[in-house]
Amino acid sequence: MAMYLRSLHLLILLYVSNIPLAFAQDENQFIYNGFKQAKLHLDGTAVIHSNGLLQLTNISSQQVGRAFYQFPIKFNTTSPTLTSSLSFSTNFVFAIVPKAQNPGGHGIAFTIGPSTDFTGRGLANGYLGLFNSSNNGHPENHILAIELDTVVNPEFRDININHVGIDVNDLKSVESAPATYFNDKEGKNISLELTSGNPMHLWIDYNEAEKLLNVTLAPTRIPKPNRPLLSRHVDLSQYLLESMYVGFSSTTGTLASYHYILGWSFNKSGPSQSLEISRLPPLPRQGKRAKPGPVIITSLIAVALVLINTIGVAYILRRKKYEEIREDWEEEYGPHRFTYKSLHKATKGFKDTEIIGEGGFGKVYMGILASSNVQIAVKRVSHDSKQGMKEFVAEIVSMGRLRHRNLVQLLGYCRRRGELLLVYDYMPNGSLDKFLYSNENPNLNWFQRFRIIRGAGLLYLHEEWEQVVLHRDVKASNVLLDAELNGRLGDFGLARLHDHGTNPQTTHVVGTVGYLAPELTRTGMATTCSDVFAFGAFMLEVACGRKPTDVQAQGVILVDWVSECWRRDAILDASDPRLEGNNVVEEMELVLKIGLFCSHAIPTARPTMRQVMQLLDGDVDLPELPRDNAFGAFASSESSDFMPFPFTLASTPSMGSTDSILKSGR
Ligand SMILES: *[C@@H]1O[C@H](CO)[C@@H](O)[C@H](O)[C@H]1NC(C)=O
Ligand SMILES: *[C@@H]1O[C@H](CO)[C@@H](O)[C@H](O)[C@H]1NC(C)=O
Repeated sequence: MAMYLRSLHLLILLYVSNIPLAFAQDENQFIYNGFKQAKLHLDGTAVIHSNGLLQLTNISSQQVGRAFYQFPIKFNTTSPTLTSSLSFSTNFVFAIVPKAQNPGGHGIAFTIGPSTDFTGRGLANGYLGLFNSSNNGHPENHILAIELDTVVNPEFRDININHVGIDVNDLKSVESAPATYFNDKEGKNISLELTSGNPMHLWIDYNEAEKLLNVTLAPTRIPKPNRPLLSRHVDLSQYLLESMYVGFSSTTGTLASYHYILGWSFNKSGPSQSLEISRLPPLPRQGKRAKPGPVIITSLIAVALVLINTIGVAYILRRKKYEEIREDWEEEYGPHRFTYKSLHKATKGFKDTEIIGEGGFGKVYMGILASSNVQIAVKRVSHDSKQGMKEFVAEIVSMGRLRHRNLVQLLGYCRRRGELLLVYDYMPNGSLDKFLYSNENPNLNWFQRFRIIRGAGLLYLHEEWEQVVLHRDVKASNVLLDAELNGRLGDFGLARLHDHGTNPQTTHVVGTVGYLAPELTRTGMATTCSDVFAFGAFMLEVACGRKPTDVQAQGVILVDWVSECWRRDAILDASDPRLEGNNVVEEMELVLKIGLFCSHAIPTARPTMRQVMQLLDGDVDLPELPRDNAFGAFASSESSDFMPFPFTLASTPSMGSTDSILKSGR
């Protein structure tokens, strides 16, 4: 009887305490079918549209947008009782809408954390606005996140570009799975594409008694599937604090998507209420065409009649628009030739929004080939002279035959009046300098940097192909990073373009200040030795995290500074402070020393690329480097009696003429 009374008492209590819910939302339970009057704390790019749609990010790169419920939620981690425990239940509808046709970038994380203030703590890109390189993985974070991730970040062991993961204090998910939902009728998992632009429904339920976290995904048209996508035992009492904020954190990377939340329901003391899908705000139209009505059809017919008259004119204009230059000698290169029309379509008419880079040779556009759906990068080089075009195209085509996992693959070319278009494999992570010098990209760790240095494709160009290929512009901005953050050398052979200038008498020095070997500025003769010099500057750049000509904007030359550290017997002072000691000291020292070695003022005193690789692999020992002023472009070249080669190799460095970057006779 007493027991009965007590539970009755409890029931009444529960009933009474629930009454205000009908009028106002209490702090432990809420439902938003659209966010018009929502009590949210917005941060970064997050905005609520007038129709109630919550937009976390737009399609600009490197954005962070967050939205948290204004009030903290009590998670009683110390004395779990019937009403206040760690259990919770939530469901929300989200949509990830990439820029038309582009792949999406980064993602959304449903987050439970101790604060809504992520200043200095949460970075864009792969960090999902929650962590940074130094606090990722720390137990003091007290963060549980369910990530909807559309990029592979190898550092965080991401499984694919379309996954859902459970993150506990760390972007390395404790569990993750490709985005699928369980179809109860067919009894099987069906794939969903997170970046499809369609709204999707996610449920997250934690049961304190079983310590079980379930995450369930489905398209909005079907009810909650019986089987969750992720089901994981986690003891949240170890991670959460008493007072926690719930919400969303979303980021974009180099690539970007609109990240939207359409509706959200949360309950701390029972199953979360179902959202009313039909009441959720609509997504903005993404260039989807409305169905034509009768009026439109009539006017279309009228327009069509006019069009038929002008079609002849249009045809001529169109031919002009896609006009190319094609000469007889190009016949044999047919398979390497792209039509201008296909490149025009792939890059949306070379639209400014598709520009992914701009270099000395022209703008680079990203595109998607309609025929194969393959992503490409198109370099548009203006070129007025016909002179040497035949040789140049022959070289381009032969470089298309260079295949190496550390080179950016050249796919082919196209030629128009006044311009040349070069088609390459698309590299999703852009160029290395953006990682080294911009704080927006995650800092590369030492393992990644060492791998990029070791993987440089220059040895292949110099010694492993049937002909010697000089690069002539090795630098961090010409090293591109693929999806796994492997380095790939790009732009090889392009320097040759300068040799086809209108005045063949002028000697153009090709390359970039800071990477130019001293003999190159004197003689204008590019050789494998001058490439090695530039590679040395590049190695120092990666190890020191500094530009070759700009040490803390003092106008100091990096090589000089490193060599000064070396003279002081403190070469490690030069290492990138952002690595915060997270480098292998022996490897760092080796890289800095080889970087100096390559920067020797005397061309023949530099190692060959093969020797550089052997030194990096520890297969041969580094000779003792001189402590005098022997390195860099401004070294006093006669000062050194340094004998660099205690080891010999079959191939000698080639000191060829400028006339050809491709030389037979290795
Ligand atoms: C995205 O939002 C940011 C900040 O509100 C703004 O500066 C930027 O122009 C927006 N980008 C686009 C593509 O709308
Ligand atoms: C990372 O965040 C922590 C706070 O969690 C802060 O103290 C630290 O300075 C940040 N580190 C970087 C590299 O931004």
